[in-house]
Amino acid sequence: MTEVKATNVHWHHGKISKEDRQRANGHKSACLWFTGLSGSGKSTIAVRVEELLFEKGIKTYILDGDNIRHGLNKNLGFSPEDRTENIRRIGEVAKLFVDAGLIVLTAFISPYRKDRDNVRELLEDGEFIEVYVEASLETCEERDPKGLYKKARAGEIKDFTGISAPYEAPENPELVVNTTEETDVNKNAEKVVEFLERKGFFSGD
Ligand code: ADX
Repeated sequence: MTEVKATNVHWHHGKISKEDRQRANGHKSACLWFTGLSGSGKSTIAVRVEELLFEKGIKTYILDGDNIRHGLNKNLGFSPEDRTENIRRIGEVAKLFVDAGLIVLTAFISPYRKDRDNVRELLEDGEFIEVYVEASLETCEERDPKGLYKKARAGEIKDFTGISAPYEAPENPELVVNTTEETDVNKNAEKVVEFLERKGFFSGD
């Protein structure tokens, strides 16, 4: 549990609600939470999904692990505790984006089931959409877009997910996109957009 040091603080309510913002935007807001091994395709799919949504006039934003770790979370490493804190902060930021009326896409390995479930709890029912970007370790290691698996195998990176640190796959994700079986980014991205449409997050054009 996170130690609460902020005492004597009170929630200040604004005059514009999440529902007001959703109405103005013409679509519901949500968090598309992409989880999977490094190199599974989370960021690539998130980027394409954002493009497809943007073309439909939907307000979006991407929070990406590698990017967020350059700023907000640059003081966190890859120990279990630091990953938990990484995901906790992103969960809170994602919640703010959902409150702001956007469809926020997050691309983090987020290897621990408990951490992802905690984010789910932060959001209202139906707002947290867990997208498991499934790919075998072999696939990811073969792709090795950043050369990190090679380094991890050589012992140059410790606690590397899939090699020397665990990855707990989702048990009941809203959606599974298997990038070992389907390598077409467009098709995988469309599957995500179709899910949102089917669930009534926006009406089709
Ligand atoms: S998470 O586990 O805390 O969710 P996050 O998605 O933010 O991880 O960052 C993962 C990215 O950091 C990887 O895509 C990779 O580029 C880089 N990275 C550096 N060291 C590690 C490591 N030990 N394990 C996994 N990813 C690492």
